[in-house]
Amino acid sequence: EVFEGSDEASLVIAQEIADLIRSREAKNEKCILGLATGSSPIRVYAELVRMHKKEGLSFQNVVSFNLDEYYGLDKTDNQSYIHFMHYHLFDHVDILPENINVPSGKIAFEHIAEYCTQYEEKIESYGGLDFQLLGIGRTGHIGFNEPGSKISSTTRMITLDYLTRQDNAFAFNSKADVPRKAVTMGVGTILKAKRIVIMAYGMKKAEIVKKTVEGEMSTDVPATFLQTHGDVTFVMDENAAKDL
Ligand code: GLP
Repeated sequence: EVFEGSDEASLVIAQEIADLIRSREAKNEKCILGLATGSSPIRVYAELVRMHKKEGLSFQNVVSFNLDEYYGLDKTDNQSYIHFMHYHLFDHVDILPENINVPSGKIAFEHIAEYCTQYEEKIESYGGLDFQLLGIGRTGHIGFNEPGSKISSTTRMITLDYLTRQDNAFAFNSKADVPRKAVTMGVGTILKAKRIVIMAYGMKKAEIVKKTVEGEMSTDVPATFLQTHGDVTFVMDENAAKDL
């Protein structure tokens, strides 16, 4: 779906999420959301906060699982994704703290594998993700599944690509300060979500959007694995769609 701009697109995505939350609430069921960070979802979260404040949208039945976190960072670091989520969404809505799940960047190296298995099991214990929101990196990553990530990959520690660290350096003092590793849900974890919405905005994303939508499926561009999913919408603005 191509929108004139990211604002229009974000309102449509926020409405879909709000509708899902309300339909689950009406049935007294939990709504299991997979959430993303980066610049792309910021306006979606702002709209959800507005709906909470102005329309009484409640997050009390929401359980959230974030895609990823930089290894070594935690809530006290402004660049951490847990900080991002509290700043843009969690601190402004009535989600229950115990229902917030963001991979920890502070697990000792020797316990990472076990921690990641538990993250997967926790998602499964709720019956899987109802909805997964995604951005896309210029390497073709979803979450932090960099090139080389397999279709069946699960939550794990990865090494960030040069381009990703460069693209994300703006949030840090310098590129050297961008962590080299991260913990991310796998491509396989993401593909198990019942519904997926992926966003890309701006000219800089045009090349990777074309590869993701029209290219051959390959571990070189992990986002291409979304082609196998039965219910995914790629939402973009005209700039990101220009080469399609
Ligand atoms: C980071 C995140 C991804 C996100 C990507 C794109 O690398 N780990 O989940 O999709 O950035 O970010 P943006 O939306 O700012 O372009």
